[in-house]
Amino acid sequence: MSTVFLLLSCLLFKNVFALPGSFWHITDQHWDPTYKLTDDPNLVCASSSQRPAATAGLFGDYVCDSPWHLINSSVYAMKNILPDPDFILWTGDDTPHVPNEDLGEEAVLSIIGNLTHILKQVFPKTKVYSALGNHDYHPKNQLPGGPNNMYDQIAEMWKDWLDPESQRTFKKGGYYTEKLLNRVGFRMLVLNTNLYYRQNELTTNIDDPAEQFSWADRVLTEAAKNKEKVYIIGHIPPGLFEKKRSTTWFTPKFNKMYVDLIQKHHSVVLGQFFGHHHTDSFRMFYSNGSPISAMFLSPGVTPWKTTLPGVVDGANNPGIRVFEYDTQTLLVKDVVTYYLNLTHANAVSERWEKEYRLTESFRVPDASPSSMHQILELIAKDPCYLQKYYDFNSVSYDLTECDSDCRVDHVCAAREVDFMSYEECVVKEGATAIYAGFLPLLSVALSLMLANR
Ligand SMILES: *[C@@H]1O[C@H](CO)[C@@H](O)[C@H](O)[C@H]1NC(C)=O
Ligand SMILES: *[C@@H]1O[C@H](CO)[C@@H](O)[C@H](O)[C@H]1NC(C)=O
Ligand SMILES: *[C@@H]1O[C@H](CO)[C@@H](O)[C@H](O)[C@H]1NC(C)=O
Ligand SMILES: [Zn+2]
Ligand SMILES: [Zn+2]
Repeated sequence: MSTVFLLLSCLLFKNVFALPGSFWHITDQHWDPTYKLTDDPNLVCASSSQRPAATAGLFGDYVCDSPWHLINSSVYAMKNILPDPDFILWTGDDTPHVPNEDLGEEAVLSIIGNLTHILKQVFPKTKVYSALGNHDYHPKNQLPGGPNNMYDQIAEMWKDWLDPESQRTFKKGGYYTEKLLNRVGFRMLVLNTNLYYRQNELTTNIDDPAEQFSWADRVLTEAAKNKEKVYIIGHIPPGLFEKKRSTTWFTPKFNKMYVDLIQKHHSVVLGQFFGHHHTDSFRMFYSNGSPISAMFLSPGVTPWKTTLPGVVDGANNPGIRVFEYDTQTLLVKDVVTYYLNLTHANAVSERWEKEYRLTESFRVPDASPSSMHQILELIAKDPCYLQKYYDFNSVSYDLTECDSDCRVDHVCAAREVDFMSYEECVVKEGATAIYAGFLPLLSVALSLMLANR
């Protein structure tokens, strides 16, 4: 009798009060097994592509991908900071930025194997939801929209994290869906968006590679019918790169298909978590001007300075991140980013510290779509918040001023995932920037006039 009562009150309790939970999101570790400390800065790592690694240390160098020491350090930092997360999101890119000839299928699989192993070793009881990155295949970027040896091997490595149906879809196209934490009503959708990358020659001319879009549409339709709430994760995000004007990853057709998918199913999608940029940013989705969904782009573990032409000093400090959420609604409540100041780690000591807590730094109640929209408006209008966001964007690596062009790049990339809307935003915000530049001058002139009266 009393047991029944206890059970009942527990159930009631569960429904009435929010139960806070938390999970890790890590991405873009890019382990470079060639990293070594030598006197010749040109011989430190293969991933520097001829750039001298002038400040190389135990934890790495800003022109190199991660040494094992950094990978190990980041995973143990996770264990220290939050030892028992509800689950871990791992959104890919495990191998170094080196020419295909320097890797090969065996090397790529072995690197994925090592990273899988350390996560399992340090978090043996934690469920990991793992997505493929464009560097988790050989040759890189060329992920097929059909069965192949590498998907088979990786499905085998990850079999503890995949139910039988997930194994089947993973082997077919590198994607899957699982119940979130084995609970009814909560779902994780893991996408292989590398199939939509413009550099993927195998899939650009296919209508729906690996039938992933029609599958996702079906899963989300079912989810709505069953009143489920869903998180979506993947590696390459749709939309634009915020550090370089008009830089896109998806082909236009696939970008539109992704936007349409979210437009159609936003009511069940409570969060989207992606990587690939190595930077800390976010993307908004709107319907008739109202925010309907937010996508979080988490910073990478690798500090590697991008070689993308036109990006000046595009390195970052290694970052890892905790999301706090409501386990009953899946609403994202907060985002806490931790980082290793690489310069400090190499020179003085290993210190993973909190970089910032989203609700504190931007004074919003949570990380819901409407709060993320508020943050975007703050960044767009207030130079202090823009600068704060910009410092965080490179995980406190690049602390230079975000000028008016920089502002347009970041604001428009966050606001518009659709390619055409982004270009319109650039024109509109560019014009505002000129006007805003005049404003301080105007007010100074005005106050001088008034003072003279
Ligand atoms: C990994 O980090 C842990 C914790 O700092 C340390 O005990 C262990 O020796 C490290 N392992 C390697 C291979 O660096
Ligand atoms: C990576 O995995 C291979 C094969 O299991 C193993 O021999 C090697 O020691 C591992 N390397 C690291 C750094 O863990
Ligand atoms: C990182 O550490 C270096 C060296 O200790 C220091 O000069 C720099 O200000 C630190 N950066 C941040 C963001 O704290
Ligand atoms: Zn990457
Ligand atoms: Zn990538």
